[in-house]
Amino acid sequence: MENESQSHRIAASDDIEISTYLELAKELRGEQPVAEPKPPSGERETVVVIDFGSQYSMLIARRVRECHVYCELVSHDTPWVKIAPLNPKGFILSGGPASVYDTGAPLALSYVYESHLPVMGICYGMQAITYQLGGEVASGAKREYGHVILHITGMDCPLFADLPSSLPVWMSHGDRVVNMPPGFRALAYSENSPFAIIGNDSGIFGLQFHPEVSHTPQGKTIFQNFLYRICGCQGNWTPANFISESVDKIRKQVGNGRVVCALSGGVDSAVTATLIDRAIGNKLTCLFINNGLLRREEPERVLNTFKRNLKMDVVYVDATERFLEQLEGVTDPEVKRQLVGNEFIKVFEEEAAKLGKVDFLAQGTLYPDVIESASTQSKASAKIKSHHNVGGLPTKMKFTLIEPLRYLFKDEVREVGLALGLPEDMVWRQPFPGPGLAIRIIGEVTKEKLEILRASDWIVMNEIKKAKLYRQLWQSFAVLTDVKSVGVMGDYRTYGYLIAVRAINSDDAMTADWAPLPYDLLARISDRIVNEAPNVNRVVYDVTSKPPATIEWE
Ligand code: XMP
Repeated sequence: MENESQSHRIAASDDIEISTYLELAKELRGEQPVAEPKPPSGERETVVVIDFGSQYSMLIARRVRECHVYCELVSHDTPWVKIAPLNPKGFILSGGPASVYDTGAPLALSYVYESHLPVMGICYGMQAITYQLGGEVASGAKREYGHVILHITGMDCPLFADLPSSLPVWMSHGDRVVNMPPGFRALAYSENSPFAIIGNDSGIFGLQFHPEVSHTPQGKTIFQNFLYRICGCQGNWTPANFISESVDKIRKQVGNGRVVCALSGGVDSAVTATLIDRAIGNKLTCLFINNGLLRREEPERVLNTFKRNLKMDVVYVDATERFLEQLEGVTDPEVKRQLVGNEFIKVFEEEAAKLGKVDFLAQGTLYPDVIESASTQSKASAKIKSHHNVGGLPTKMKFTLIEPLRYLFKDEVREVGLALGLPEDMVWRQPFPGPGLAIRIIGEVTKEKLEILRASDWIVMNEIKKAKLYRQLWQSFAVLTDVKSVGVMGDYRTYGYLIAVRAINSDDAMTADWAPLPYDLLARISDRIVNEAPNVNRVVYDVTSKPPATIEWE
């Protein structure tokens, strides 16, 4: 049974909440999301990353994309019929926790070697190559973990172009190659690995270390060399190419149909909507539901951007009163989330019904969610169940899903957003939870408290932006606690609210460190909040990381 208190929490996308609500509604009538058709073969240069279960597999895919080469991360047992349409230019085999001699250890399927395409195996991937092509792997007498110096002996190999003959790399392995397969030669060694890199004349390479992690500072050059010099890729995976491909695809998919897209103010839905608008213009209607739990000026900003500047068809629904009515007297964090979620679906359904016949629902699903739901039990369905248990949500919606960002990482979404001309402020917005300020007000949500929190939150954002820290922080915000304390102002005793300021660094929201903000910045934030926010006389800074705390307070 899933831990209830964690069930609603998601890893990254600030638009996931909306996606989940809508998927939930679809699931009730037994409809599963329909994947977009794959791009026609031959149009893109694709490298396939075969996943053996390493914690770094997704990072490999990101590194390849950073080199402007499209790649897909697939499970090691993916059959050729699914790979062939991608028309791959090469394979990368990831690391993984297994040992090649374990029973049932994952291995590469024969097409990887029989296709005569370049292959680069990393750590376990190297061991799989060695084992499968007739070499020998043994348990490392000495486990290597951490920084080691790599000495390259095969400098004539294009894999090492623009690299010095010695460089620091990051090792993390137990097993290692002791006998190379026939036809391979050693290209580099380290103190404990005589075969730190091996390769043959057909472009099959094995690397004992991890070029994908930031601890291997020249790792990117190795990827570039493999992709450009060995696989022959041009590096044409750019935002502009993605946009033109997507626009064509969306036009074909939508035909004369109509599309609805829920805007949340977050980057994922913003980019989704803008891309679809570029493809089909007035056949897209956006719904922007103001739940009354947004930050100061957020509704105006979203409307200005989409309606006034981008001239898109946006239906704005101010449902503030409905949401606040639902939240009246409610203090339990889970109940608050459920109420906000349920009300969102109700409003969405009502408004969508007013639009007449709509064929497609656009969502800002991103690649990490796709990978996650393919590799483990579906994250979305896990969330759907937890909502489902408590929700009881009716729907008559009949949409086909359209998910143009389904193969993009968050950083790519941002690049595409900028290339589409979205304002930087929107593209670089920090994640904001679906239930909004309701989960940043501890205890009951009231209009008065929302105003206090909005004023405080505005100051935090303002000062963080002025200090040029907004982009580098994963999130920074204010929380209105349920505590009141005594203070003094002039000759008067005060009894006011306690605001907590939270700022964190994180890569993926799964773990997070509290950010050591400069004292003078904290002082400015505190001064301004007690002076400008109504009824606040004390400010504290949250110095807890995740775990054990979560990022949000509720
Ligand atoms: P926690 O608080 O679980 O948050 O550490 C992790 C990340 O998820 C965001 N978050 C949400 N996003 N709907 C969302 O769309 C939600 O219900 C929700 N709850 C948390 C949070 O802001 C952080 O980035």
